[in-house]
Amino acid sequence: THKIILDTDPGIDDAMAIFFAFQSPEIEVLGLTTVFGNVPAEMAAQNGLSLVELAGKDIPVTKGASVPHVGPESSYAHFVHGDDGFGNINHPAPKGQLDPRSSAEFIVEMARKYPGEITLVAVGPLSNLALALKLEPDLPKLIKAVNIMGGAAFVPGNVTPVAEANIWNDAYAAEIVFAADWRVNMFGLDVTYDLPFPPNFVDILEEKNPSLGGFVAKASQFYMDFYSQGHDERRCFFHDAFPLAYLLDESLFEMTEGHMRIGTDPLHIGQTSFAPIGTTMSEFWTKMPPVFVATKVDHPRLTTLFIDTYAK
Ligand code: BDR
Ligand code: CA
Repeated sequence: THKIILDTDPGIDDAMAIFFAFQSPEIEVLGLTTVFGNVPAEMAAQNGLSLVELAGKDIPVTKGASVPHVGPESSYAHFVHGDDGFGNINHPAPKGQLDPRSSAEFIVEMARKYPGEITLVAVGPLSNLALALKLEPDLPKLIKAVNIMGGAAFVPGNVTPVAEANIWNDAYAAEIVFAADWRVNMFGLDVTYDLPFPPNFVDILEEKNPSLGGFVAKASQFYMDFYSQGHDERRCFFHDAFPLAYLLDESLFEMTEGHMRIGTDPLHIGQTSFAPIGTTMSEFWTKMPPVFVATKVDHPRLTTLFIDTYAK
């Protein structure tokens, strides 16, 4: 099995990804480490607890960074995920308690406990990972891999023409994470925004799994309204589940190796600037460690994997 820590800002596609991980027998989720992003940090933490309780799991949920490394408090994505982060569905408050550790402390403690075994799956801003690297500079030696949902290497961004939301939310943290000497696999808009899921996708999840799929279907209505603006058909995207799918089946993706820099000047803040190895640009940024960027996905097989896993 794959031991993971799921770093998340729940969030509707976060919820879909968290349940996908819980439903996968090959994945052991050691804890949810939450971070500001789609919603403020405290709401992200409470939402994380709610999802763990809904799934009947008993794992720690930690509260993480509430502001980016540099710059002011961010703007949240309530227009995508609703005021509550769950599409305004009046979900009851969780009953349980947060773990007393911060998200960064939890990541470091677990990495020391299981050296070389843990994959960090990060599907929100990279603030907690950068803080953990500050707490434990040897963290890259203790972590197996870092699978990130974020960035847009060869396609436009979704917050600015060049920046995707998770990287844009904390560009300085992202620069720290991409510069660290660990294996980074990036699943950005290149693959997650490639093909939409059809309108009945969430209904199928609900049919296969009335409780967890039912929650996703209900929460997704608001999210689908957002993604359907200007389109004839209702549609949606489940970005955050992609880095988990890679853990289960690497053959779903084509990965391109290269070197990555993150834009930090005002115009390009949060840009994932990628120099693929083997191209005319491959001499760029070679002092940065190699990064693997997903550039192609087998969408039909991925869709089947999601549905089959929810059906378990
Ligand atoms: C990413 O931003 C968030 O809104 C989603 O949860 C996802 O992690 C997509 O750009
Ligand atoms: Ca997210």
